[in-house]
Amino acid sequence: MTLLAIETSCDETSAAVVRQGRVLSNVVSSQIQLHAAYGGVVPELAAREHLRNLLPVTRTALAEARLDAGHLDAVAATRGPGLPSALRVGFGAAQALAFVLGKPLFGVHHHEAHLYSPWIAGEPPTADFAAMQDSVSLIVSGGHTLLVHVHGLLEHRVLGSTIDDAAGECFDKTAKMIGLPYPGGPAMDRLAGPGNPMAFAFPRPLLNEPNDDFSFSGLKTAVRYFLRDHPDVLGDDRLLPDLCASVQGAIVEVLVTKTLRAAERLGVACVTASGGVTCNRALRRELAAGCAQRNLTLRLAETRFCTDNAAMIGILAEQLLSRGSPPTSLDDEIDAGWRLNQRGAPQTSSHALYSSSDL
Ligand code: KG4
Ligand code: ZN
Repeated sequence: MTLLAIETSCDETSAAVVRQGRVLSNVVSSQIQLHAAYGGVVPELAAREHLRNLLPVTRTALAEARLDAGHLDAVAATRGPGLPSALRVGFGAAQALAFVLGKPLFGVHHHEAHLYSPWIAGEPPTADFAAMQDSVSLIVSGGHTLLVHVHGLLEHRVLGSTIDDAAGECFDKTAKMIGLPYPGGPAMDRLAGPGNPMAFAFPRPLLNEPNDDFSFSGLKTAVRYFLRDHPDVLGDDRLLPDLCASVQGAIVEVLVTKTLRAAERLGVACVTASGGVTCNRALRRELAAGCAQRNLTLRLAETRFCTDNAAMIGILAEQLLSRGSPPTSLDDEIDAGWRLNQRGAPQTSSHALYSSSDL
């Protein structure tokens, strides 16, 4: 079974070839340079770039896998959520290809694919589903922050999500206020390296609320007021790293504390994380320390699979195909606002509501 997968939900054009859990190729063309000039992703520019790049990226993915389109058994593409104009390019191309080849099409949920990217590892990258355990999965990107209970392959339940800004958005927006280039997350990570995360106190929104939700807009506002009251920090080579480390520390503490608390409450043995923010060194370090302390297994997506990539789309589509999920109709539309719904049997043991004794 050989699948071609396409991902164009935001600002990465990606195509991958997957066969029996193995990633034969995974080509990613990032548009970061293009959007940096505007300080954020411009949807129409993203769509135009996807149109320009999709064919060369797909050709390269097929060439690296040493096959041509005639060898494919199925085609997969991200159907949502994401930027509508961007999604349409990849999903439309996949529909056309599936139609011409007479092969099934799988329209994949982008976040469901992120759930499985921590299990893709090695060279050639291979999905290690045999090692999969009952786990709590953190998905943190520029557009989303989600906590999900994955209780089996193709079985999950969403525990919580952000009620306003995503964690990556908070990194990007606060970094912009500090004067760092887009995307701010990696720049903040670098600058925060030598800084003291305890130097300045920033709020930890929803940290002690009895739920698995997140909120980051208050933190962003706190940074704005801090900069209004302490403008000199921006020109101080010693205090600027302290500021970055303090903002990063607040974001990371909320993410790590709530993830570990959910893992303990549900009694799972494993924590996973993926999405662009999972590249953050402090987040990786703190998750590792917290999991080690609690005897939890930690699976962090490799950095190449943290950010958006078609390999994770193909790996999930292959599972859907092999487990008999019906293909997506060629007449279906993209679903830009697609919510991650429960899949699989409900977990009776973990259905207990969050109670105040969990705090
Ligand atoms: O998953 P992703 O590539 O795209 C989507 O948003 O779907 O994530 C991009 C986000 C951006 O907000 C970027 O600033 C953030 O991931 N990011 C980081 C780091 N690397 C990427 N945030 C903090 N530290 C990093 N090292
Ligand atoms: Zn993503």
